[in-house]
Amino acid sequence: MRILSGIQPSGNLHLGNYFAMIKRMIDYQEKSDLFCFIANYHALTSVSDPNLLRQKTLDAAIDFLSLGLDPNKSHFWVQSDLSEVHELSWLLSNVTSVGLLERSHAYKDKTAKGIVASHGLFAYPVLMAADILIFGSNKVPVGKDQKQHVEIARDIAMRFNHTFGETFVIPDADIEADIATIPGIDGQKMSKSYGNAIEIFTDEKTLRQRVMSIKTDSTPVDEPKPIQDNPLFEIYSLFLDEKGKQELKERFETPGLRYGDVKKELFSVIWEYFAPYREKRAQYVQNKADVIDILKIGADKTRVVAQEYLTKARNNIGLNYANY
Ligand code: TRP
Repeated sequence: MRILSGIQPSGNLHLGNYFAMIKRMIDYQEKSDLFCFIANYHALTSVSDPNLLRQKTLDAAIDFLSLGLDPNKSHFWVQSDLSEVHELSWLLSNVTSVGLLERSHAYKDKTAKGIVASHGLFAYPVLMAADILIFGSNKVPVGKDQKQHVEIARDIAMRFNHTFGETFVIPDADIEADIATIPGIDGQKMSKSYGNAIEIFTDEKTLRQRVMSIKTDSTPVDEPKPIQDNPLFEIYSLFLDEKGKQELKERFETPGLRYGDVKKELFSVIWEYFAPYREKRAQYVQNKADVIDILKIGADKTRVVAQEYLTKARNNIGLNYANY
């Protein structure tokens, strides 16, 4: 089973990124054939500062490695080190209707917000389809917001196979219903753009402040506390197994619980959970040349797979004119 996902280098990671995406990906490396990359070509649709792009790309790689991604157990690379995806992207463009791309929610939302529609933004799903199809990926773990993009990739793959013969594996989106939405400190979906995120590599003082400002209701201390739509309960649960969750539920349902005490406890849980990753991260930050080596080796290893599918597509489409 080949699992693939990309993540845009978007800056400081928060609990939502970690539990909805990164942790799931890293867990896959133990039981599947994991392909994981930093989507810096896609980032060009929103970043136009070269220094910032360089910095965010390397930071994202450091974050993944620190959080346990093992380049020996997976394929891990930076998207722009494999320009093969652009060639495939062009081949796919010719079986992609404009109508299909016009129906993309992400594109419609962005243009509705007044963002000028560049060709890059419009063609974003085609490049994403190339990312997925060029490795014969079976499963694509993504958040709900990317589900439609994976469906577009499926459509494109089917259309290509139908036109030029069996070439690509038809991929499936993998969305874990349970953890699809992780609340931020205000109870809305955790998102950098809502300003409600809890960052995982922030300093101790900031982390404490963020946790202490998780929104709670005004249930009196001597009454049972709700667990539904209670961001404190939901965020704490991310760190617990089934038994732990059950215990936490019982504590919430028992009168006398003080939200302030639970928040202090949750702060310590988060701080301890990320302690080993923080240490690893500090080491990588000191040794960026090692990180760059890891990425180059990762790209070389991954290119072999990309070339296999690209060659098949080129031949099936008729670019191999010497074989006329
Ligand atoms: N569009 C994805 C996001 O913004 C990133 C991405 C690029 C991706 N290519 C991909 C995800 C291929 C999965 C598969 O999150």
